[in-house]
Amino acid sequence: MQLFLDTTDTAELKALAAGGLVDGVTTNPTLIAKSGRPMLEVIAEICAIVEGPVSAEVAAVQTEAMLAEGRRLAAVASNVVVKVPLTSEGLAAVQVFAQEGIATNVTLCFSAVQALMAAKAGATYISPFIGRLDDYGSDGVSLIHDIRTIYDNYGFDTEILSASIRTVEHVKAVAIAGSDCATLPPAVFKALFKHPLTEKGLEQFMSDWAKTGQSIL
Ligand code: E4P
Repeated sequence: MQLFLDTTDTAELKALAAGGLVDGVTTNPTLIAKSGRPMLEVIAEICAIVEGPVSAEVAAVQTEAMLAEGRRLAAVASNVVVKVPLTSEGLAAVQVFAQEGIATNVTLCFSAVQALMAAKAGATYISPFIGRLDDYGSDGVSLIHDIRTIYDNYGFDTEILSASIRTVEHVKAVAIAGSDCATLPPAVFKALFKHPLTEKGLEQFMSDWAKTGQSIL
């Protein structure tokens, strides 16, 4: 499963990407607002840090305006993926982007039939929002299972990009469900490396090793 960072914090992204395990980045209008920076500048900077797909979201809601914005965003760098909301107008834009060879990420997906429509439109990625569904009283992870089944039933190659991930448990659950990718806040990404028994075990090994007085090199 590919791991993306859901962030516009380029300093933190640079630090985490240096570890070699960040496959891509997602952004949204809220994260752009949080950065306090011009969108095109932030997206260009992120694309220079990460080779993989970088999702940049349109702000328009009408098809023609989404197409104009998406083409502008796609011109920023070859790894830009145009993020489009899951509306009928958005899916009309996705079909045109697909014909033009522009990769798309259909966002704000909360149901399996919405994911089916996005795949039929030719979306490159579908972003089901796990955490927000949980907050709503539904089961976000079961949506990933349902979409996996539907996409496999019909051979759709749209990739499932699990989004609105809040915990390490979410990451495990969507990986088991067969998600192709997951986008994580930096704090969750950092937590993936950690386990209290790893820290405890390492402390013990280091202390025992010191007692030997040896050196490997
Ligand atoms: C990513 O594409 C989404 O915009 C993001 O995961 C949403 O997460 P949130 O529900 O925590 O805002």
